[in-house]
Amino acid sequence: MTQQGKVLIIGASRGIGLAVAQAFAGQGWQVSATHRSGVPAAGNQPEIHWHALDMTQAAAVQQFARQFSGAQFDAMLINAGISGPAHQQLAQSSDQELAQLFLTNAVAPVRSAEILLPLLKQNGVLALTSSQLGSLNENPQATMPIYAASKAALNMLSRTLVAAVEAQDGTLLTLHPGWVKTDMGGESAPLTAEESAAGIVRQLTGWQGRGGHHYVDYAGQSLHW
Ligand SMILES: NC(=O)c1ccc[n+]([C@@H]2O[C@H](COP(=O)([O-])OP(=O)(O)OC[C@H]3O[C@@H](n4cnc5c(N)ncnc54)[C@H](OP(=O)(O)O)[C@@H]3O)[C@@H](O)[C@H]2O)c1
Repeated sequence: MTQQGKVLIIGASRGIGLAVAQAFAGQGWQVSATHRSGVPAAGNQPEIHWHALDMTQAAAVQQFARQFSGAQFDAMLINAGISGPAHQQLAQSSDQELAQLFLTNAVAPVRSAEILLPLLKQNGVLALTSSQLGSLNENPQATMPIYAASKAALNMLSRTLVAAVEAQDGTLLTLHPGWVKTDMGGESAPLTAEESAAGIVRQLTGWQGRGGHHYVDYAGQSLHW
């Protein structure tokens, strides 16, 4: 199979990230993917190169970027995220839980993107996995409020990446993967990780060279901020 390109996926040990890594590998892409606690058995394939990384550790992300110095990825997906306490009640959440939620879902993805951006090819696509729930317009009832607020913060902070991405003639995507059957999405979700991943691959490849900052779902539908 001819090599299609290179993609970097942060947070790929399970769920959507793992399915995206497998989908790219299946299309002959060279995949660099991260885990925190060991290579997942399902990701043990020659096209996927695994690296340990906790995205919330800025020094580790800097070290990770140095390790890849000179590499040029066609696409980068910063996918890692957590949902916070199941009760989603602000008053019942500890300061530590809230700090970890906002650090993981809002601060660390954008800080990591800033650090990793020099590794994106000219015309490449940088995507951050957000959620439709992070939109004030798409989520008027504040479903899953503290998780949604962390993704709203991600959406706003992602704006700070626009100038740097544009300077590389790149495209920035704030991506909703759909509601997906994973540890986070649960069994009632309508989409499988494979269905979501197939759409995400189409977005990461289809937006190459188009420029701008877009809030889209896995199927390419535009969302209101
Ligand atoms: N599932 C849905 O319906 C849905 C809907 C909208 C948006 N999303 C978003 O899609 C993304 C993936 O969700 P998912 O459903 O696949 O969730 P998941 O099954 O819970 O997987 C989350 C992934 O993020 C990784 N991760 C968490 N914190 C990390 C950190 N500090 N550093 C590095 N990796 C970290 C996890 O690694 P470990 O295995 O080490 O924990 C795991 O690989 C998340 O950003 C989520 O918010 C999901």
